Order: sequence, then C-alpha cells, then structure tokens
Amino acid sequence: MLVSTLNNTSQAELIRKQYDSITAGNEMKWDVIEPSEGKFNFTNADTIADFAQYSGMKLRGHTLLWHNQVPNWLFKGPDGQTGTAIRDLLIKRLKNHIETEVTHYKGKIYTWDVVNEVLSDKSAGLRGEDENSHWKSIIGDADGDGYDSDFIELAFKYAHEADPNALLAINDYNLESSTTKADAMYDLVKRLKAKGVPIDVIGMQMHISIAYPSVSQVKQAIEKFASLGVKVEVTELDMSIYSSPSEQEKKATDSILSDQAQKYKELFDLFKEESQKGNLISVTFWGSADNDTWLDNFPVKGRLDAPLLFDRELQPKPAYWAIVNSNKLKSHK
Ligand code: G3I
Repeated sequence: MLVSTLNNTSQAELIRKQYDSITAGNEMKWDVIEPSEGKFNFTNADTIADFAQYSGMKLRGHTLLWHNQVPNWLFKGPDGQTGTAIRDLLIKRLKNHIETEVTHYKGKIYTWDVVNEVLSDKSAGLRGEDENSHWKSIIGDADGDGYDSDFIELAFKYAHEADPNALLAINDYNLESSTTKADAMYDLVKRLKAKGVPIDVIGMQMHISIAYPSVSQVKQAIEKFASLGVKVEVTELDMSIYSSPSEQEKKATDSILSDQAQKYKELFDLFKEESQKGNLISVTFWGSADNDTWLDNFPVKGRLDAPLLFDRELQPKPAYWAIVNSNKLKSHK
C-alpha cells in the first residue's frame, strides 16, 4: 500500500481487520528510499512499518533491485549526472543501498524481494538493455562462471549479510502463465542455489485474470519451484475482470463477480493445499480493495477494474465470501 492509504481511516481499518501482513507498495523502492546518492529517506516506509507494528501485522519488503522506479543518478557516472556507471561504481552503489535499507529494517521484515523482474519476457535469459534494464550489461560476468547473473548474486549476498534472518526472494510475474519464464526461473534458481547464493523464496506476483491462467497451471508452477527446495510466496495477487487490453470498460456484473468468486475459491483451495504441503508460505494481494488497484491504469489508463476481494465502497465481494467460507484469509499488500 501507499502511505496515503493510511489517510483514509476506513481503508486503514479494513487493512488492519482483514489482513495480517503489509507490503509497502512503492514506498520501499529505490527512487523513494535513496532519491539522491547516499541520501536516504525512510519517512513514508517507516510510517507503514510503524502502522504494521502497532497493528500487530507482519511486514514484507519490496524491493531492493529493480529496473523500474529507480533514480536517474543510479546508472550515471560518478557525478550522478553524466556518462554511464561502470561495473565497480554500480556495485558500490548497490552494496550501499542494500546494506543501508536492509539494516534499517533489520528484524522487522520477514521476506525481502531482493531482485524484482530480472527475467526476460523475450528469451530464456535475464532482462537486458532491450527490456529497459542496465543491470546485466553494466555488471556483466566477471566472476568467470559464464553467466551474467553477478548482479543478482551480489544483491542476495549483501541482503543476507545485512539481515541473516530475513527470507530472501526473487520475484517475478507471469510465472504461472508462461512455461518459458517458469523454466527460466527454475534453471536460474537451481544454478544459484548450487553456487550457494542465499535464495529462500520464489515470489510469484500472480497478476492474473478471471480468464487465465487455469488453477492447475498455478499448481504446476508452485510445485515445480518448491521441488528446488525453496519456498513459494504469492506476492502481488489480483484477478482482473478483463481478458485483453482491447476490451472496453465494463461493469462488474453479478455474473462476473460470481465467476471471479469461483476462481478465487479454487485458487485459495489450492493455496491451502500447497501451504499444508509446506510449499507456500504467504499470499499477498496487490491492493486492499478495488478503489486501491494499479489495474485501473494498466494495461489501459483509466479503465476501471475490480480485481480484489473488497469493492470500491470497501464492502466484501462474493470472492471474499467464497474464500472465507473455506479458508482463513490473512495477507495484504
Ligand atoms: O508519484 C507520482 C505523482 O507525483 C504523479 O502525480 C503521478 C501521475 O501519474 O504519478 C505518480 O507516480 C506513479 C507511482 O506509481 C506512484 O503512484 C507512477 O506514475 C506510476 O507509474 C507508479 O506505478 C506503480 C508501478 O509499480 C510502477 O511500475 C504502481 O503504483 C505499483 O503498484 C506498481 O507495482 C508493481 C510492483 O512494484 C512490481 N510488480 C508489478 C506491480 C504492478 O505494476
């Protein structure tokens, strides 16, 4: 959630009552935490951390390394304004950022999304310049193992050193709907674990829709990842009522809400099963209610969606009742 969400007393009350874990939405991302090099601003994130603490809720950390929502200076030369960072400079910045942020929240965060969306959407490898990420091309492969994942390995190393007790996650989207991406994640984590990189969790964002993917695809992905000996967390769950960007805005009719409820129910039945098997350890929604969703502006700006368990008036939707009748619900962005 955003810190501004707390200004709405009813929304804050809903969060406190219905969820037991918070993710600080945008407030722990690099551009908010370290807008200028070496100048850290924890104000908003601390407000959320304090809210979690006095409400008796847990806190999830999101995110230490991403290609999005990063300040301009990060990939520039030493003056932060001109040129391009070289490997050593970018590593120095990465180390300082992770050490400072993770140390600040040491003992307060149960899982950190250490790296976010590092997999390519185009190939089986890592995201690079053609997909707006400079991490791989600048840091490269200098440890001589033939893989360009040094930046990921370093991020996990620094996070683990700063808070050895926090669980550390690699987080990504479409892992349940794209087998290419799921295979890429599997291969990457397998290799990194064999190298001793401290990865505990694969985070499945799970931005899905009523139409796809199927619940059995979700099951397959969770079990594939868990077979690596890591845990799975569902980190950004929402279920759009649309199945394509070209669909016109529509009202969430009773029939749509009932389909959504059915799919949420099947999904949470699976989550319960996977949690009992020890594979899945948390489920987090990306937003607290339908008045608080990024999907109103994605993939179509201004097209209102209804992806969560509570409506715009903060009332429970059929999906909520479908879940609470068979599962105990507790988790939140
Ligand atoms: O802060 C400015 C504000 O000053 C300005 O008036 C306003 C005008 O559009 O923009 C505000 O910034 C927006 C920011 O959210 C804060 O609300 C950005 O435009 C907007 O792009 C940004 O979107 C965020 C998005 O990540 C950026 O990639 C969403 O809120 C956030 O929910 C979303 O979260 C990501 C996860 O971190 C990773 N997984 C996917 C997920 C959804 O995209």
